[in-house]
Amino acid sequence: MIDAKGVCRVFDDGERGRLTVLDGATLQVADGEFVAVVGRSGSGKSTLLHVLGGLDTGYRGEVTVAGVRLDGLSDAALSRFRNETVGFVFQSFHLVSGVSALENVMLPARFAASPPADLEARARAALERVGLPSHAARSPGQLSGGERQRVAIARALFASPRLLLCDEPTGNLDAATADDIVALFKQLNASGLTIVAVTHEDRLRAAASRVLTLSGGRLS
Ligand SMILES: Nc1ncnc2c1ncn2[C@@H]1O[C@H](COP(=O)(O)OP(=O)(O)O)[C@@H](O)[C@H]1O
Ligand SMILES: [Mg+2]
Repeated sequence: MIDAKGVCRVFDDGERGRLTVLDGATLQVADGEFVAVVGRSGSGKSTLLHVLGGLDTGYRGEVTVAGVRLDGLSDAALSRFRNETVGFVFQSFHLVSGVSALENVMLPARFAASPPADLEARARAALERVGLPSHAARSPGQLSGGERQRVAIARALFASPRLLLCDEPTGNLDAATADDIVALFKQLNASGLTIVAVTHEDRLRAAASRVLTLSGGRLS
């Protein structure tokens, strides 16, 4: 699913000069794996996910995800890759506050070149998959933190991605709720979804099939 070799990412950090965040990071992930990448805050976990998800183009190295060679790809092709192949889950949910859970799940697809005709049925199915079938009409303000993250996961699953990329997905949740979300990831992984989750928490370690550590810009 993922073959990333020698990924280097250097930021121009103003007065502090050049900041090397990824320094030859190499990562292989097989189809169906659930990989946790741990590392302290600032070690480059989000930067790595942005590279793998086709959200960043300013790196060096060879990155192939789901058979698509990402380095050197045009913006249009990267955008298509993101829409069709990966789902993103973030720490802070990134839901739109004024609209329903159902509408949040459908939103990305509404902006697609050709939205599917069965948009709503598919969004309802996605909410069912994350265990929230009866919450479709509620707005994010009427949902708990864990429920909000479930809606965000349903949105990420909407286009049937092959890969789920999660950035500190339990970072904003209390311990019991975080355990529920981790259990959901395990369930999704068991149904065939490949998952890469970056975290500085220990919680995801136990659930993952493999744990890698990001340190000094490299994975080990
Ligand atoms: N766009 C950027 N410009 C400059 N520095 C950045 C940028 N993005 C991240 N960084 C820096 O790179 C380092 C790693 O960031 P990040 O990948 O967000 O770490 P983590 O997710 O592990 O906490 C940090 O020092 C951060 O300040
Ligand atoms: Mg981060």
